[in-house]
Formats: sequence, C-alpha cells, structure tokens
Amino acid sequence: MRRFLLLLLLPIITEKAAAQSSDQSMRSLIKDNLQFAASQYQLLFRNTPDTMMPRFFDPAKNKMESSDTKWWCSGFFPGTLLYIYEYTRDTAILRLAEKKLSILEKEKHFTGNHDLGFMMFCSFGNAYRLTGNPAYKEAVMTAAGSLATRYRPAIQSIQSWNGGGRLHCPVIIDNMMNLELLYWVSDQGGDPKYREIALTHSNSTMERHFRPDNSSYHVLDYDLSTGKIIQKITWQGAADSSAWARGQAWGLYGFTMMYRFSKNKAYLEQARKIAQYLLNHPNLPADKIPYWDFHAPGIPGTYRDASAAAIIASALLELAQYVKKAERKQLLAAAETMLRSLASPAYRSAPGENAGFLIKHNVGSLPHKSEVDVSLTYADYYFIEALLRYQKWYSGK
Ligand code: GLY
Repeated sequence: MRRFLLLLLLPIITEKAAAQSSDQSMRSLIKDNLQFAASQYQLLFRNTPDTMMPRFFDPAKNKMESSDTKWWCSGFFPGTLLYIYEYTRDTAILRLAEKKLSILEKEKHFTGNHDLGFMMFCSFGNAYRLTGNPAYKEAVMTAAGSLATRYRPAIQSIQSWNGGGRLHCPVIIDNMMNLELLYWVSDQGGDPKYREIALTHSNSTMERHFRPDNSSYHVLDYDLSTGKIIQKITWQGAADSSAWARGQAWGLYGFTMMYRFSKNKAYLEQARKIAQYLLNHPNLPADKIPYWDFHAPGIPGTYRDASAAAIIASALLELAQYVKKAERKQLLAAAETMLRSLASPAYRSAPGENAGFLIKHNVGSLPHKSEVDVSLTYADYYFIEALLRYQKWYSGK
C-alpha cells in the first residue's frame, strides 16, 4: 500500500523538487547579477561625464558614447541605479542616481517628442516610489503636462515625433510605453485628462497598429487635417510589413501595463495575443533572444537584439500574473529562459568590460546603421527590472 502511494506521489514530488532547485538557481542568478550590476554601474558612472548620460558602448570600435539629457534614453541610467539601490539599499548608489536625476530634472518641460515617459517615469517615478521625496513626484506631474501637449484629438493619439521628410504626423508603437506616466499621474490626483489620453491612445493603437497575425506596424503616419492614416511603415525595422523585434516588445509591455492600471480586458487580450505571436514565432531562437527583426534578412546569420528580450521578459513576468495556470507556466518558462540567456556570458559583460554596461548584443536602428550590436542602457534597465520582478513575484512562492 505504502509503495503504491509512493509511486502515485512520485511525479508530484519530483516536480516539486525540480521547481525548488530551479527557484534556488534563479535566486542565485538574481543575487549574482544584481551584485555584479552594483559594481559595474559604478564603473559606468565613472566613465560618464558629469553633465551627460551613458548612451552606448561599441565593442567593435572599443568606443563609449554619452548623450545629453534630451536623448530618449536619459531616464534609464538613473532608473537602473535606483533599481540597484532598491535591491542593495546601498546609499552610495542612491547618491549616484540623485546626481543624474539633478541633471535630468529640467527635461520635465520637454515637449519635442513623446519620450517623456521613458525619460521621466523610469527615473523620477522610481525615485519617488523608493524615497517618497515630493520633489520627485512634482517632476513626474509636470512631465505629464508636457507629454499631454502632444495629444492630437484629430487622430485620438499622441504624436510621437514631429513631422519632416517623408513623415507628417507619426505615431509609433513604442508610444505605448509613455502612457504609464500619464495614467499614474491621474491616479495620484493629477488631472484626470491624462488618464483619458492614455486610454484613448491605447484604443487607437489597438484598433489601427496591429495586423491579423497580432504583429504590429512600427509607424502609422497621419494627416492631421483629415485624421486619416497616410502610410503604415517602419523606421527601425527590416520592412514596412515586418515585425521589428523591439516594437513587438514595446507593444507587449505597453498593453500589459495598461491592463494593470485600467483592468480593461481588451488590453489583456491584446497583450496575450502579442505574447503568443512572439513565443510561437518560428524565427524565435532556442535561447529566446530575438533577432533584431522577426523577418530580418539573413536569419540565422544576422544580429540579435537582447534589449527586445529584456523588455519581453519583464513584460511576460507581469502578464503571467494576470492569466490562468497553464498559460502562466508557459510565460514564466519563456521569461526564465530569456533571463538565463541574458545572464550568460553570451550576452552579459564580464566584470570591468564594455565600460560598465551590463548587456551586450543590442541593436538601436539597423536601417540607420546606428548602435548595431552594442551595449545600450535600456537593455540593462529592463534586464534588472525583470530580475527584481522575478524576485518580488515568484521567488520562493
Ligand atoms: N524609440 C525607442 C526604440 O528605439 O526602441
């Protein structure tokens, strides 16, 4: 009888033991990578001029470049320092973040493009969450007002970039990411119109940006006088009809985040459909680090974009919280594979390498031959965010 019972329970016991050992190895992966990030990011800080932010490191040219605070990525470096502080509670790291926040703060008035969410929420949003300093909240509130100036009622969307050249009024899928700033500010007692803008923009994106297979166009270019779409094109992808990897990642993250705030089931369904498109794509490699475009010419002999994997992993960890058990298991397994790949020597810098950046093999814009196969701040930011999310939501649970 005892033997029979043991035989019956064996699969459950084995599954439990495997889960425990995987959890333990993820816990040590998280610890190792956060400790590594703490020393590596102090090096990156030392390598960056006081008035600038790190932008990329190109290993082929052994060259690091910095940017001014108007660059769309200016929030990621302080944001990552803040995540490292959240884990380590090392006030020396907080001081470094504060130094960079002080040069970034003026951009709360910036209205030159749609990137205020990336710039001000990843930085000041995290700073306020971790310190409760009201000055940081004020910076986020002001930034929401600046971003809202780009809302165009004629197209029920926020205009991403200014027109020029072949573009008239472009709205890009990436723009979903900036809505977190708007929704948060309304939820915190700011003007409710920011929430309305975030919802309206999401609805327009859901209706117009996606193809029947649930991949998305990168750029929708509008005629503001008629409200009509002139062209559906790409900017950073391989072709107008292709699935630029990071664009798909922004869509996945953006709709998952909008579901978190609004509890609108349509956003959840959109995020689930994007996740299935990505995870079942025949061109997603076994290590789950996407090529820079799912339809890039030359696959498998072309570049990966590790930043897309970092964003997707972080988004999947959140999405997994909102779905049923079997799907949760699938999403978590994929996110875990991505994190293990990113943390491996194939994608993660060795100590002291790459000027202090963490993640290698990212692509900014291949069609523009800009930032190809380099280290980039947003890959680091979403990698660290995903590790913290894993620890907070899944480790030991
Ligand atoms: N515009 C953000 C990106 O390049 O992904």
